[in-house]
Amino acid sequence: MDAPTDREFRLVADVPAAFTEVVAEAIEKSPGAFRMALSGGETARSCYEVLAGRAGIEWGRVECYVGDERCVPPDDDDANQKMIRQALIEVVSPAAFFPMDCDSPEAYEQLLQAVGGLNLIHLGLGPDGHTASLFPGSPGLEAPAGARVVRNFDETGRNSHPRLSLTFEEIERGDLVVFTVAGASKAAALAAVLAGEDLPAARVRASRVLFLCDEEAMSEVRP
Ligand code: 6PG
Repeated sequence: MDAPTDREFRLVADVPAAFTEVVAEAIEKSPGAFRMALSGGETARSCYEVLAGRAGIEWGRVECYVGDERCVPPDDDDANQKMIRQALIEVVSPAAFFPMDCDSPEAYEQLLQAVGGLNLIHLGLGPDGHTASLFPGSPGLEAPAGARVVRNFDETGRNSHPRLSLTFEEIERGDLVVFTVAGASKAAALAAVLAGEDLPAARVRASRVLFLCDEEAMSEVRP
């Protein structure tokens, strides 16, 4: 049975700024440890650069996880963890940062089992409708029941490297999923998600799913 999903599509002028305020509010409203999964990609990089400069966030009680990783060395320019470290972690020094290690997915599985669900999961949207490293038609879309992470790859070759990704089931355990969607290159995928096409991003369920979208990304959405 799918979790009830409160899904909101919000048009914003500035996606990184809007993301920053959503995160700041969520942390402020959630006492104790706040656990958030971070995304890869250039939209995410822009979001983290703005988030890192936001005053008043209690980073000492924030634990940072990742939603997916490319299976490359940690200092590879394609590594999500490298971008996340540079744009956010090294600036704000959160309580903890847990990068994914493709060589030991079971360690991440146990880590997520132990925390029992994340407070916030940040996701991007690919032009093909993927999110995290859950690609259209990829084997990772059908992860074993109960799995929190899954190895995956894009058979089309559009998205490079073998991957490790949160599963839909783990995402669904999150309190709040925030998609950040910016630019005309995402307009077709966003319109397709809104139209109900069976794309990976459209399969995301959680208690609350919020899409923060700029004008260009919304340009193909039918009123
Ligand atoms: C990855 C990301 C991926 C990303 C989207 C959007 O590892 O590549 O997690 O899901 O969020 O592809 O990326 P852009 O913001 O760069 O378009």
